[in-house]
Amino acid sequence: MVMKKITEALLPLLLSFIYFKLCLCNGDPTFGCREGEKKVLLDFKDGITDPGELLSSWIGEDCCIWFGVQCDNQTGHVIKLDLRNTESDEVLSEQALGGEISFSLIGLKHLRYLDLSMNNFVGIRIPTFFGSLGSLRYLNLSNAGFLGPVPHQLGNLSHLHYLDLSNIVWSYDTVFLVGSHWLANLSSLQYLNLDNLNLSRAPNLLKTLNTLPMLSELHLSDCNLHVPHSVSYVNFSYLRILDLSSNNISSVVPLWLFNLTNLEYLDLSYNSFRGLVPSDVGKLTSLKVLNLTNNGVLEGVPATLGKLCMLERLDLSWNNFNGELIELEEAFSGCIQKSLKILQWTNSELTSHLPSWFGNLKSLQRLDLSSNSLYGSLPQFQLPSLQELYISDNKLNGTIPAHLGKLFPELVVFDLSSNNLVGVLTEAHFNNLSKLEYLYMSSNSFKLVVSSTWIPPLKLKEVHMSDLELGPRFPTWIQKLKNITSIDMSNAEIADILPNWFWYFSPNMRHINLSHNNLTGQIPSSFKLLKLDFIDLSYNHLDGALPEIVNNSVSGATMKNLFELYLSWNKITGIIPNSICKLMHLRVLDLSHNKITGVMPDCWNHSHANLQVMDFSYNNLHGSIPTSTCSGNIPLTYLYLNNNNLSGEIPSSLKGCGWLSTLDLSYNNMNGSIPTWFAANLSSLQFLQLRANMFTDSIPPELGSLESLQVIDLANNYLSGAIPHSFGNFTAMKTAPDLSSANIESYMDHIKANIKGREDNYDKILLLLNYIDLSDNELSGEIPEEITTLSYLTYQSSQPPNSQRGVLDDEDDEDESVWFYSVYCF
Ligand SMILES: *[C@@H]1O[C@H](CO)[C@@H](O)[C@H](O)[C@H]1NC(C)=O
Ligand SMILES: *[C@@H]1O[C@H](CO)[C@@H](O)[C@H](O)[C@H]1NC(C)=O
Ligand SMILES: *[C@@H]1O[C@H](CO)[C@@H](O)[C@H](O)[C@H]1NC(C)=O
Ligand SMILES: *[C@@H]1O[C@H](CO)[C@@H](O)[C@H](O)[C@H]1NC(C)=O
Ligand SMILES: *[C@@H]1O[C@H](CO)[C@@H](O)[C@H](O)[C@H]1NC(C)=O
Ligand SMILES: *[C@@H]1O[C@H](CO)[C@@H](O)[C@H](O)[C@H]1NC(C)=O
Ligand SMILES: *[C@@H]1O[C@H](CO)[C@@H](O)[C@H](O)[C@H]1NC(C)=O
Ligand SMILES: *[C@@H]1O[C@H](CO)[C@@H](O)[C@H](O)[C@H]1NC(C)=O
Ligand SMILES: *[C@@H]1O[C@H](CO)[C@@H](O)[C@H](O)[C@H]1NC(C)=O
Ligand SMILES: *[C@@H]1O[C@H](CO)[C@@H](O)[C@H](O)[C@H]1NC(C)=O
Ligand SMILES: *[C@@H]1O[C@H](CO)[C@@H](O)[C@H](O)[C@H]1NC(C)=O
Ligand SMILES: *[C@@H]1O[C@H](CO)[C@@H](O)[C@H](O)[C@H]1NC(C)=O
Repeated sequence: MVMKKITEALLPLLLSFIYFKLCLCNGDPTFGCREGEKKVLLDFKDGITDPGELLSSWIGEDCCIWFGVQCDNQTGHVIKLDLRNTESDEVLSEQALGGEISFSLIGLKHLRYLDLSMNNFVGIRIPTFFGSLGSLRYLNLSNAGFLGPVPHQLGNLSHLHYLDLSNIVWSYDTVFLVGSHWLANLSSLQYLNLDNLNLSRAPNLLKTLNTLPMLSELHLSDCNLHVPHSVSYVNFSYLRILDLSSNNISSVVPLWLFNLTNLEYLDLSYNSFRGLVPSDVGKLTSLKVLNLTNNGVLEGVPATLGKLCMLERLDLSWNNFNGELIELEEAFSGCIQKSLKILQWTNSELTSHLPSWFGNLKSLQRLDLSSNSLYGSLPQFQLPSLQELYISDNKLNGTIPAHLGKLFPELVVFDLSSNNLVGVLTEAHFNNLSKLEYLYMSSNSFKLVVSSTWIPPLKLKEVHMSDLELGPRFPTWIQKLKNITSIDMSNAEIADILPNWFWYFSPNMRHINLSHNNLTGQIPSSFKLLKLDFIDLSYNHLDGALPEIVNNSVSGATMKNLFELYLSWNKITGIIPNSICKLMHLRVLDLSHNKITGVMPDCWNHSHANLQVMDFSYNNLHGSIPTSTCSGNIPLTYLYLNNNNLSGEIPSSLKGCGWLSTLDLSYNNMNGSIPTWFAANLSSLQFLQLRANMFTDSIPPELGSLESLQVIDLANNYLSGAIPHSFGNFTAMKTAPDLSSANIESYMDHIKANIKGREDNYDKILLLLNYIDLSDNELSGEIPEEITTLSYLTYQSSQPPNSQRGVLDDEDDEDESVWFYSVYCF
């Protein structure tokens, strides 16, 4: 009785409880996720390492609102797990998820979408139980660090639409395919990306994929792909996007490709296809992009190209086409004339006139013919949509047509640098080019004649006019270009005062090159342009003191982006302010050939993690080399302190310069002995120049282990004792000097550029020599026999080179990259 009462009273409550439970089971969204699936997710979280605390929101009742989780709003089942790491672009970032992937994940029976890309599951394989997530439509494991074979069990995912296993870069420790038969079961697959996987153990991949009727997008770039020469029947007829780039395919272009008539994008770049592009290309009437760049020997363009009525982007670069472009008029006629927007054809040895048929490609927005051997003059064709025109690095001669603005009214980028173009450019050439932002016309023989009130194209952001005749007055029209970020007026025959406004007129200025002019006036007292990353004022007649780098007026703001500062060959006086050390990102600091006095700045430390070149040579610095030099293990590679009045010993802090390849302390007053630690600590040294100082004691035999040494000049000191036998061990002097890129880095390029045909500074070319000079010391004993094994030295017994200056004659040097002069003298 009592019981019944209680039951009756409780019944509604009880019912509502049951109702509540039912609701929960049905997954009413207001009641959150399902208990079982929440547990699965928590088990999963347990196995995961999460340094970036991506999963910190995975607490609380409702798992459906956890980061990356999405539930079905009808049933409450977890249907999506998106744990892509978007925190960092970096592959295998340390902030990414890693660890183990719990088997319990198979409890998410309704999971349709799983994205673990850009994570760091380094060291584990793709779990085979992923093959049991039978509802998956989308699986993205790209750049997630997995290794080992892709499990065949994935073949069980018959509903899968998207499978992405790609990597951004090739890596040996990544997943690979062993066999491809299992892919045949993915009958719903629409998208497959295997970029940068090693597929050499899945030789039949393409044949397997050919059986997948839904496939529409296929990315197989850089994956050791085997491409069959023929297939019996082309079945993946929905294929719209096919990327076979970078696979070293070295056959003729397989004909079956041209049966893929729905293709919109075909990338065959970076292979070694031979011969002609088959005329069957004309069948690909849906094609929007055809990329054939870098195949080396593709010889021609089929006439049927013109049938590609949808083709918007065509890239034929880096192929050795022969023949005249004029003969291709037919290939580029037809409806391609209306569709083509981008034509890239660089570095293809095009030896030809510029034919006027380019003018038929009325939709063209970008035409890139740079780095060929085009000759003759610029024809006057009109391209009403053209935004980008690149014809640099050719042999075009003649003048450029006036009224460029009428021919190319939409032009934004115009690069005609490094040709043989001539003539006077006037205001008319630039009329109506109101959209022009990037103009590169360096290295031609132009003269610019405009009035001082000229209004140049005002949108200009970058103007490079090196070697153009601009002077003798400093061009004032520049001032109107308020948005300019990069300006090169080097070697432009300007003989004028560098105006003060130049340092203010465009607040976004980043790159300034005014070198090789006759600019006078003072170096500005501070560089107010805080965004500058490159300044070259070398080879002028500027005077005044070096600017304080910290701009006090802007609350101590510095030019924190400055990477390269060249002020050599001027008449700069005063001291080097310590504030120069505040330029944390500096890579090159060249103050050589000035009249700078005082001591070297003593403030270099580990925060100068970029400093590679420091050149204070040919000044009047005194005092010793500060002990902060190289104190922070900075990557200094070139250190020139020669031709100053430096004194004292070589500081042991130079031990921190482990990257040093050039150390030039010659023509100073330094003393003490040559440190024995050079060999161990400066093992990359190639050029050691200590000539004309007051070094004493014997030459440390340890130097013999400097394997890269090409030049050792210790002449004109007070060294005594014997020449070490270990000098026979200079490996670099036994092999042909390596003049490849590794040896001549950008600073050398810069120097060479400066040398080319201008007032010259030969000292640094001598870096390319092989020699030992120990003359004018107090050495005794025989010349060790071992030295004769240095086969790339030329013996010159008594006659020393007439100092190491001025022995080279530019006129004799046709090939600039090779200046050999091998000698040793004692
Ligand atoms: C369920 O969610 C989907 C996608 O978020 C939404 O489009 C749909 O309207 C929702 N349905 C209900 C009943 O809330
Ligand atoms: C897979 O993830 C990568 C990296 O997060 C992304 O770039 C790519 O577009 C994704 N693939 C697909 C098919 O969505
Ligand atoms: C394949 O999927 C089914 C259900 O979708 C499952 O029962 C079976 O265990 C899966 N097989 C493998 C090898 O994962
Ligand atoms: C492929 O599908 C067939 C038939 O559906 C099945 O028997 C086979 O086990 C599947 N293979 C794999 C690797 O899942
Ligand atoms: C690709 O895999 C094959 C077979 O495992 C191997 O022989 C080859 O060296 C690999 N290629 C590269 C570039 O790792
Ligand atoms: C081509 O695909 C169809 C289904 O789309 C299939 O019936 C046929 O067997 C396939 N042929 C080949 C040779 O794979
Ligand atoms: C390509 O298509 C043609 C018809 O246009 C057909 O005769 C030929 O067999 C197809 N070739 C392949 C390999 O599918
Ligand atoms: C063709 O492919 C190369 C290499 O991936 C790329 O640099 C180039 O931009 C592509 N060309 C076009 C027109 O998309
Ligand atoms: C351009 O160069 C060719 C030789 O390549 C020469 O015949 C022609 O006269 C030159 N034209 C001009 C305008 O200099
Ligand atoms: C300069 O740049 C600013 C910001 O990008 C822009 O609003 C302005 O129109 C530009 N001025 C000219 C003359 O192009
Ligand atoms: C620049 O100065 C040098 C001498 O310093 C002179 O020979 C040369 O003619 C000058 N150039 C110009 C364009 O004034
Ligand atoms: C030259 O190098 C070899 C091998 O490193 C070494 O054994 C030998 O002692 C060295 N010679 C001298 C004279 O230091």
